[in-house]
Amino acid sequence: MENFSFYSPTEFVFGKGTENSCGEYVKKYGGSKVLIHYGSGSAVKSGLLARVKDSLNKCGIPYVELGGVKPNPRDTLIYEGIKLCRDEKVDFILSVGGGSCIDSSKGIALGVPYDGDFWDFYSTDKEVKEALPIGTVLTIAAAGSEGSGGSVVTKEDGMLKRDAGSDLLRPRFSILNPLLTCTLPAYQTACGATDIMAHVFERYFTNTKEVEITDRLCEAVLLTMVKETPRVIADPNNYEARANIMWAGTVAHNDIVGVGRSQDWNSHGIEHELSGLYDCAHGAGLAVIMPAWMEFVYKHDVMRFAQMAVRVWGCEMNFENPEETALKGIACFRKFLHEIGMPINFSELGAKEEDIPVLVEKFGLGDGKTGGFVALSSEDVAKIYGIAAKATL
Ligand code: NZQ
Ligand code: ZN
Repeated sequence: MENFSFYSPTEFVFGKGTENSCGEYVKKYGGSKVLIHYGSGSAVKSGLLARVKDSLNKCGIPYVELGGVKPNPRDTLIYEGIKLCRDEKVDFILSVGGGSCIDSSKGIALGVPYDGDFWDFYSTDKEVKEALPIGTVLTIAAAGSEGSGGSVVTKEDGMLKRDAGSDLLRPRFSILNPLLTCTLPAYQTACGATDIMAHVFERYFTNTKEVEITDRLCEAVLLTMVKETPRVIADPNNYEARANIMWAGTVAHNDIVGVGRSQDWNSHGIEHELSGLYDCAHGAGLAVIMPAWMEFVYKHDVMRFAQMAVRVWGCEMNFENPEETALKGIACFRKFLHEIGMPINFSELGAKEEDIPVLVEKFGLGDGKTGGFVALSSEDVAKIYGIAAKATL
């Protein structure tokens, strides 16, 4: 196991009705004037926003609000949010929504105290030195942004999707009420489930040896998703299944399952160009890319892929031919994604094979290589897009 430091300072407040205490948590973490940031309407329609305001009112905390965050959140709304926070002397951001809303909140949080253009943090390695504190009321189990220090934002001009990261962006608190996720359309639930599983796989495929504890934690999250996702698709109001998925989404990405081991992250980078170019859901893009990535790299460590096949998908180990077991596991993953309603190739996603050169260009590797499990070149990335384009069951 490699040396590591694990820092997850967020207070997670889990369960039914917990959103009604959000005012108390804002107070606890020092907020005296709040920006409520939310998405394109689901939180208004469900009555959640009204409950959040009620809680702030009861605690005597003044607020301003900014809705309209789109999936694949845009820089344009973040500029608006930064100005609003400065004008209104906001000192705390309360994000009510999913990963897009939380990531937009993080963009505003790092932009408010910064003299330059907030995009600097997304387009370069510039370090975040200061950020407004944020809290979240999560409405979809997916991105894990409620416990992560990451933020992914799309620049409207050119639809460039880029990320920034800092421990300063980790929320002070995150309110996780699984009931809030019952209004999700099945497709969006499945996109979230795919993202959760992808966050684990990015960590599971590692070159670090003998990391039994994190291997087993990864497998626990994956097995939970394999069991619970079809249950919520069949019965959207199944509270216990929603609860298991919600907590799985958080632990999949606050890094508790990934510490002390090398991680890959190429599937995410390759996917971000798809959701950047086509404005598709991140989880749907991952459903197309991740099995294709697996097929391209599995020979790097056949036994690790065979381990996934046996432990996660219940395949029988073929000791004579472990490669066959490895490939069976990847096929099971793709079949599972198909069964929960995810696209598995370019045409199902709405992507075009002829755009592959554009996607590779946007990925921006040039002559370099990237990836913590298998280092890929631009040519490799093009081949993975090619496999994804034509994938079948
Ligand atoms: O905007 P509203 O009206 O709320 O609708 C949203 C949106 O259309 C809807 N929704 C959310 N909760 C709902 C609901 N509809 C009904 N009932 C509810 N309870 O779902 C749609 C998707 O929302 P979004 O926030 O985009 O989903 P998700 O949480 O999957 O976030 C995706 C974004 O997170 C980024 C992705 O790239 C993508 O931009 N990621 C962020 C990460 C991070 N910060 O650590 C890591 C991830 O790998 C990921 O890249
Ligand atoms: Zn993701």
